Amino acid sequence: MSIEQFRALVLREEEKKTKAAIETLGLEALPDEDTLVQIDYSTLNFKDALAVTGRGKIVKSWPLVPGIDFAGTVVESSNPHFKAGTKVVLTGWSVGEKYWGGYSQFQRVKSDWLVPLPEGLSTRQAMMVGTAGFTGMLCVNALERAGVSPKSGPVLVTGAAGGVGSVAVAILKKLGYTVTALTGDPAKHDYVATLGAADFADGAQWAESPRPLEGQRWAAAIDTVGSKVLARVLAEMNYGGVVAACGLAGGADLPTTVMPFILRNVNLIGVDSVMLPTPERIMTWKRVVYDLPMQMLEGITATTVSLDEVKSASERMLDGKLKGRVLVDVNAK
Ligand SMILES: NC(=O)c1ccc[n+]([C@@H]2O[C@H](COP(=O)([O-])OP(=O)(O)OC[C@H]3O[C@@H](n4cnc5c(N)ncnc54)[C@H](OP(=O)(O)O)[C@@H]3O)[C@@H](O)[C@H]2O)c1
Repeated sequence: MSIEQFRALVLREEEKKTKAAIETLGLEALPDEDTLVQIDYSTLNFKDALAVTGRGKIVKSWPLVPGIDFAGTVVESSNPHFKAGTKVVLTGWSVGEKYWGGYSQFQRVKSDWLVPLPEGLSTRQAMMVGTAGFTGMLCVNALERAGVSPKSGPVLVTGAAGGVGSVAVAILKKLGYTVTALTGDPAKHDYVATLGAADFADGAQWAESPRPLEGQRWAAAIDTVGSKVLARVLAEMNYGGVVAACGLAGGADLPTTVMPFILRNVNLIGVDSVMLPTPERIMTWKRVVYDLPMQMLEGITATTVSLDEVKSASERMLDGKLKGRVLVDVNAK
């Protein structure tokens, strides 16, 4: 690799199908933005897997270098706040969807999208957290802002073996919460238990539509699944319970009723990491350093792949065959 010739995964649309291939690029091929970054790591998120496989309509502009997040070092920038050598992390802002993203050894982006790495976090660790883990932290922030504390009672995390879920479980445990996990695959229980889940909520009922109100079980919940699962979570919340909803791994619909809201005072809070204002990003990345046990990160990041392996890992992710976070080492062969 050199700055003149480097590798990137490029998505092209051919006969309405997504074609993903490794290409050799030069700097002239990169977008005309104000900051050039040499990338160390990116990650594979659910959204990346949908983009790379073409199984979801994620790509807004062709051709596209996917990868919705990355961490690396500024090479040059016209923004004086980002001097050469500054370590940075990028998540969101439609990078990897509309704008060229992290599956490249170099990328040019708007400096407004970058956050300087907080003290105590390496580029590798930042991407082990990645968009998914960052969103897990945002969900915990949302619950706490709504008044939830460890004394409130048990917290349910759905999709607990996934990227967002794994990090959310580990953070909640570190903060002293009692965490119950919902994971579709009993083979992943040991993994989720090591992150700090006290027990599991699994059962056949999660595949069924709930009644408008079910027995009260949870003081708070983080939902990454949506659809019937979120509908049941809402129906099972304690009076005054708080749900942070960030995902749609099980579907984008929400077949619920108003009953949990008007009879149990349940609060449903939406969590978005993509367009989050920069001051909250900076605060959240700093919080990750303190509230996510770093020794847990190695266990959460079960898989590291090269650019060449991103496509097959994407298929496995969408088939539910992966767990935790998937690191993309853009410089590995
Ligand atoms: N709002 C935001 O800014 C934001 C940011 C990041 C991610 N997200 C969304 O959050 C969700 C999770 O992302 P992720 O990166 O954690 O993905 P992931 O690593 O693929 O994890 C998703 C987890 O959801 C569960 N799941 C998958 N399909 C399911 C189904 N059909 N029914 C029930 N559960 C299912 C599985 O958990 P188990 O293995 O435990 O069953 C899976 O591990 C995605 O929808 C993603 O788009 C949103």
